Amino acid sequence: MLLYFCNMLVLDGKLVSAAVKEDLKAETQKLISAGNRAPHLAAILVGSNGASETYVASKVKNCEEIGFISTLVRFEETIDEATLLAKIAELNQDPSVDGILVQLPLPKQIKEQKVIEAIDPSKDVDGFHPSSAGKLMQGLPSFIPATPYGIMMMLEFFKLETKGKHAVVIGRSNIVGRPMSILLSSNIPNGNCTVTICHSHTHNLKEICLQADILVAALGRPEFVKADMIKTGAVVIDVGITRVTDATAKKGFRIKGDVAYDEVAPLTSAITPVPGGVGLMTIAGLLKNTLQAYKTNNGI
Ligand code: GUN
Repeated sequence: MLLYFCNMLVLDGKLVSAAVKEDLKAETQKLISAGNRAPHLAAILVGSNGASETYVASKVKNCEEIGFISTLVRFEETIDEATLLAKIAELNQDPSVDGILVQLPLPKQIKEQKVIEAIDPSKDVDGFHPSSAGKLMQGLPSFIPATPYGIMMMLEFFKLETKGKHAVVIGRSNIVGRPMSILLSSNIPNGNCTVTICHSHTHNLKEICLQADILVAALGRPEFVKADMIKTGAVVIDVGITRVTDATAKKGFRIKGDVAYDEVAPLTSAITPVPGGVGLMTIAGLLKNTLQAYKTNNGI
């Protein structure tokens, strides 16, 4: 059921991710019934960062829900780079593993880029390897980073018009902002936007945001986007998931998006809630990539 408030559509990630997962589960069952093994995701978690623990636990749980195998590899915060790289090399060689992800961020002693580049591109279900990023940039088939992939699925599900629209992306990370800007500007379904990418050095950010038909907030600053930055009728995609300390909350924190939802939502034609929006779609993107890796690597 689609939820509207005063002509504003709530872009419900639960609804879309459930539909994607239903399809993936059916396809997985079919593959297994035909005598194939289940797709297998290996996730590596270093340390015990609360948010990373939650994300990885959710990735593993979602794998199980749709019939994938998952392996969680845990390391202490203090492990050295060589140990982590050796584990990645082992998983690269393991034919029973289809997809590998290393949850970011990593502790200071480990160079993230080195780890990203150590993953076999054919198992790079996060789409962070330069080979995947390069293919995405050139419009070649590749693993799309899970969050932008999930957002594209959301635009498709709700049939939101993108062609010719001005999309403003706040944030230029390799995980979200940069791949998002490439996808939205590509000549693909749910693309063909004119894209402006903004960052910490952007002048007149508010004026640029006011020109956005589609605004993607991916800067990681709670409630940064306010009502006075929104063009009436814009589509607003909130990628932020920040834990903000709150003694009145059961867990001692609340999850806040990058958008001040209560003041922004009434101005929009459609908006993602936090939680319950883009976060769930990130998992859907990862699961789709894992099935893709499984099929490609097993000649299916
Ligand atoms: N940290 C924040 N987002 C992500 C993601 O999509 N994948 C991984 N591996 N780490 C992250």
